[in-house]
Amino acid sequence: MLQKLKFLTAGESHGKGLSGILEGFPAGVTISEAMIAQDLARRQMGYGRGGRMKIEQDHAEILSGLRHGETLGSPIALWIENHDWTNWKDGIMSHETPKEDIPEVTLPRPGHADLAGVQKFNFSDIRNVLERSSARETAMRVALGAVCRTFLKELGIEIASHVIQIGPEKAPAISVSDLSELNQQADRSPVRCLDEKTERNMISYIDTTRSEGDSVGGVFEVLASGLPVGLGSYTHWDRKLDAKVVAAMMSINAMKSVSIGDGLDVAKVPGSKAHDEIIKEGETLRRASNHAGGIEGGMTNGELIRVQVSMKPIPTLARPLRSVDIKTSEPGVAHKERTDACAVPAASVIGEAMLALVLADAILEKFGGDSLSQVKAHILASGVK
Ligand SMILES: Cc1cc2nc3c(=O)[nH]c(=O)nc-3n(C[C@H](O)[C@H](O)[C@H](O)COP(=O)(O)O)c2cc1C
Repeated sequence: MLQKLKFLTAGESHGKGLSGILEGFPAGVTISEAMIAQDLARRQMGYGRGGRMKIEQDHAEILSGLRHGETLGSPIALWIENHDWTNWKDGIMSHETPKEDIPEVTLPRPGHADLAGVQKFNFSDIRNVLERSSARETAMRVALGAVCRTFLKELGIEIASHVIQIGPEKAPAISVSDLSELNQQADRSPVRCLDEKTERNMISYIDTTRSEGDSVGGVFEVLASGLPVGLGSYTHWDRKLDAKVVAAMMSINAMKSVSIGDGLDVAKVPGSKAHDEIIKEGETLRRASNHAGGIEGGMTNGELIRVQVSMKPIPTLARPLRSVDIKTSEPGVAHKERTDACAVPAASVIGEAMLALVLADAILEKFGGDSLSQVKAHILASGVK
């Protein structure tokens, strides 16, 4: 769905590492491994994560596309090592150990790619599926998104997120206009929630649910500010920015619904309460409210983009659900793998990365330019607000 940027990731959860390539990115943007590391560290945080995040300290190495600290306009290749690989390389994930000596995973986990995946590819070992379908892959998306975030920042565009619900614990609605401090504020909370009382309730819900061998889902909100009017288009279904944002968010493992602006709630109110009146502020046409979440007719309208995404509870359970062995057809319980109990805070950081990729692409599509200075000049020349 992206028009100008392309990205590709490769890698298994317990393989040697993750590779990523970002193509179509402009020259002249200052990026560094340290900048990318900040977002990778934010993805690793969050109350309710499992043991894996204690093993990994994600660092993306920049392999190509950079000289003297600035992008070259050529493909940017990144590499993230899986530190956990040392625990797996001589056993289950070894290329040398004969296949027969490695026990197969044969009890599919409900809620995972396990069963449909083995049926699709005709595998007898669920590990062939679970290694790639794992959300470990999203570490690379966060790294590629961090590169795009740096480009967007140069244009005055900020992206931030916070968690608004975990299980039944929902934060009171807040009105956000300035995103500059929002991420720092959210990052100080173990659940990335901006409301202290809700934060405490969320933590105790995670504790109780985890102690019962169960898992937790929730909702996060991703916001973007400083956007020029007219990113995306109403002219074709696949150029609509809202469609791209929804697809990007839904592509994150375990996301089950995405809404823009007031989302589902607009269905409950009359039109007079669903739409944003147009007002004049100096020479600028603004909106008196932002029910639309910054996108109308598939295009940015200059207001804050607001996207809410719901995540289902983690499917690997300490007290596993019923399953059937794909080898013996005997009933059993689902396979257990080291697992998070809650990953909603981490998912919100992944949401930021996906929005950064979509918005960087939309900027390049509308304004064009091979280098940062050209893109800036094109924006200025366009006279767009
Ligand atoms: C940051 C993050 C961490 C996750 N950690 C786990 C985990 O530890 N165990 C697990 O079973 N699922 C985990 N998931 C969810 C699964 O990856 C996801 O449910 C699975 O790939 C099936 O995809 P679907 O739910 O989109 O259909 C995680 C998801 C995210 C976004």
